[in-house]
Amino acid sequence: MPFKIIILGSGKGSNAEAILKAEKEGNLGNAVTMAIFSDIKDAPILDLAKKYKKNSEYIKCDPFSSKLKNDETEILVNKINKYNPDLVVLAGFMKILDSSIIKYLNGRIINLHPSLLPSFPGLNSIEKAFNYKVKITGCTVHWVTEKLDAGPIIDQASVKFDRNCSIDELKKKVHAEEHLLLPKVIKKISLSEISFLVN
Ligand code: GAR
Repeated sequence: MPFKIIILGSGKGSNAEAILKAEKEGNLGNAVTMAIFSDIKDAPILDLAKKYKKNSEYIKCDPFSSKLKNDETEILVNKINKYNPDLVVLAGFMKILDSSIIKYLNGRIINLHPSLLPSFPGLNSIEKAFNYKVKITGCTVHWVTEKLDAGPIIDQASVKFDRNCSIDELKKKVHAEEHLLLPKVIKKISLSEISFLVN
């Protein structure tokens, strides 16, 4: 049985591409990407759908709001339901989801975050870690709950950095770890090696 996933993102889509590459190479367990969703019409992440022959969905959202509004949430839920996914993957999706959709998906959403949570939740986490001069940072995949970036942690990868490292070098290192971590977690969930938050 394929384990159906959908990917939501707002930007470049390098993590979505890491997932799609893993899938193409037979390294994503039972997971099959059904569609890529974005709230940004011309986001590069949506171009990946063409490249990897996947469905794409654009959710028209208010660009000035950090949160999804009620009508936008309703459209998102309807579009998600078309694919009946086993797992929803937030890979750089920059809108805050309404608690109604989080409840509706009932523990079946994961999020990738570019820091070692619970340190540096929210936006600009790599910059915050850099400015704080932490010696170790990294990335986290966690279950999405109603509290932003605070759901139970599934897995993390660390990145060491010394003070000679530039912010761009640090970003590169964190992204490189993200590209390994996220497909690894999806594979394990699809193979039931990691159990769902709610059974
Ligand atoms: C990733 O670094 C991801 O951790 C971050 O957005 C980037 C998306 O990059 N997510 C967040 O900051 C969520 N709060 P990508 O579009 O190249 O995959």
